[in-house]
Amino acid sequence: MARGGSIRYSFVMFRLAHLSDVHLGPLPDVTYRQLASKRITGYINWKRNRSKTFHDGALGAIVDDIKAAKPDHIAVTGDLMNLALADEISLSVGWLESLGPAHDVSVVPGNHDAYVPGALRKASIAWRPWTEGDAGWSKMNENGYPYVRVRDGVAIIGVNSARASAPFLATGSFTEEQARRLANILDRAHKEGLYRVVMIHHPPVRGAAPAHKRLFGISTFQKVIAGHGAELVLHGHTHLPTLYWIKGRHGQTPVVGVAAGGENHGQHKPLAQWNLIEIEKNGDGFRTFLTRRGLVGHTGHVAQLSHEELVAPSARPLADAHHAPVSA
Ligand SMILES: [Fe+2]
Repeated sequence: MARGGSIRYSFVMFRLAHLSDVHLGPLPDVTYRQLASKRITGYINWKRNRSKTFHDGALGAIVDDIKAAKPDHIAVTGDLMNLALADEISLSVGWLESLGPAHDVSVVPGNHDAYVPGALRKASIAWRPWTEGDAGWSKMNENGYPYVRVRDGVAIIGVNSARASAPFLATGSFTEEQARRLANILDRAHKEGLYRVVMIHHPPVRGAAPAHKRLFGISTFQKVIAGHGAELVLHGHTHLPTLYWIKGRHGQTPVVGVAAGGENHGQHKPLAQWNLIEIEKNGDGFRTFLTRRGLVGHTGHVAQLSHEELVAPSARPLADAHHAPVSA
C-alpha cells in the first residue's frame, strides 16, 4: 500500500492480540429492582444459555495463551459484561487489570456494556485507563470516543458503537459525529506514517450480523474508510472468526472478527479464540498477518487454528480472485 507523508515512527514487527466478547461471569447476585427493566430479558437469557457455556476455564486458557505470546498490545472489542450491573463493572475492571498495564491494553464497549441507559457512561468512566487517548489527539465526545493511542508506529483507534437498545435488541450505531472525528484522525495518522487499526464492537459490514443485532451507520462507517483509509478494522459481537473486505482509500481494508473469548462448550458458535495480528513494515507500507488461536476440543488446550497474510482479494493473482470475503 503506497503511503504519503513522512514516517516518524519505526518498528520491525508489532504484535497485537485481539479478543472480544468475554462476557465475564459468574453474574453477581441480581436484585429484583435491578431486573425491573430491560435486564430481566437479559438475565433470563443469560441463565438459560450463557451461564452454561461461558466460564472462566475457557477464558483463563485464552488469556494464559495471549500472555505466553507476549504481544505488544491487547485490543478488546467489547462485551466484557452481561447486563452492565455495578458489580459487573468492578469485575471488568479487575479483569482488565489482570491483562497487563493499561498502557498496553485498549478496550471499546459492546452492547452488553451499555445494556441500559447510563451503563455506558459508568463503564466508560471505570475503563478510562484503557480508553485514555494520547495527549495531542483531540478529545472526542462525552465518553471519549473515538480515542487514539499511538504505540510504536501503530495508531489504535477506539470507536464506540454501543448504546442501550430495546429488549431483545442488540443493535449499535455509528454516528455522523464520530464519523467526522474518525475521518480527521485517519487523515492525520496516515500523514504521520502510522498503521491505523480501528476497533469497533459491531461488524461494520452489511449482513455480518442478523437484523436485531446490526449496526446502524454501516454505510457511514464504510464511507469514512473508503475516503480516508485504514489498514485494519477489528470487531467482535458475532462471536465468529470472520474476515471481510471493505473499500479503503488505497485498496481494500480487512475487517476481522473473532470468536468469543469465553465460549466453552456451547451451542452453535466456535469455542473460545483470540487473534494474533502481526504488522510488519514493508517499504513505505505494511504487511499484516493473522493467526487465529483457540481452544481445541475438550482438552482445554489452546492451539493455532489458522495463519494467513491479509491480502485483499483484488490484489491476489487471478486464479485466486474468486475468493470473496470469507469466514475462517
Ligand atoms: Fe455484542
